[in-house]
Amino acid sequence: MFKNIEVTQELLDYIYDHSSSLHPIQKEIMKYNKTLGDIQRMQISETQALFLQFLIKINNVNSCLEIGTFTGFSALSMALALPIDGKLVAIDKDKKIIDMAKSFFKKAEMENKISTIIDDAKQSLKSLLKSNSVFDLIFIDADKSNYINYFEFAIKLVKRNGIIIFDNVLWQGDVAKKEIVDNQTEEMRKFNSHIKNDKKTEKTILPLGDGLTICRKL
Ligand SMILES: C[S@@+](CC[C@H](N)C(=O)[O-])C[C@H]1O[C@@H](n2cnc3c(N)ncnc32)[C@H](O)[C@@H]1O
Repeated sequence: MFKNIEVTQELLDYIYDHSSSLHPIQKEIMKYNKTLGDIQRMQISETQALFLQFLIKINNVNSCLEIGTFTGFSALSMALALPIDGKLVAIDKDKKIIDMAKSFFKKAEMENKISTIIDDAKQSLKSLLKSNSVFDLIFIDADKSNYINYFEFAIKLVKRNGIIIFDNVLWQGDVAKKEIVDNQTEEMRKFNSHIKNDKKTEKTILPLGDGLTICRKL
């Protein structure tokens, strides 16, 4: 019978060694994030970045929206995969962190593709809706307690057949462990059920990094 492989660090290193290489500035952001201590774990994983890049290329994605940018690793990864006239809007409420991200976007010569919004995500999403903005792909990686709200905004902001992706949906595997009932795990379970019951999308959860939910708007 087929058994899923346990993805150990050793196996991950092998996967990285046998996948496409990252851009030098992606590597520089990862190196910088390591100097930040515990919060470096906010950054998406290398396999997630390569997966997002593939998804953008094979779907001819031209416009992306990111909610939760941090120091810019995921935003830069997506921007690098976009065509030359592609655009990405990156939202984060933290000005200091966005200034850092912008310095990396500039170094990678991607500043023309990426515009940033420094504000609370819900306010920013309201403004984007007001201005009739539409995106091919929306990547969501900000405060988990607002994931359901972000989904309801995203479904209005993504075009038909467009893609909405959420990070951390497996919450280090805790969502499947019945004995774990802390607030954050329960919140993630509530979100996962909301998506499961939504009729406007088809979806699956991929065990990449901390778990990605990928939805296609019907
Ligand atoms: C997990 S990190 C994003 C990591 C990023 N995607 C990467 O791969 O490097 C979450 C980010 O969301 C931002 N954030 C949290 N709550 C927010 C909110 N309500 N509005 C806007 N940004 C928010 C935080 O400032 C933080 O930088």
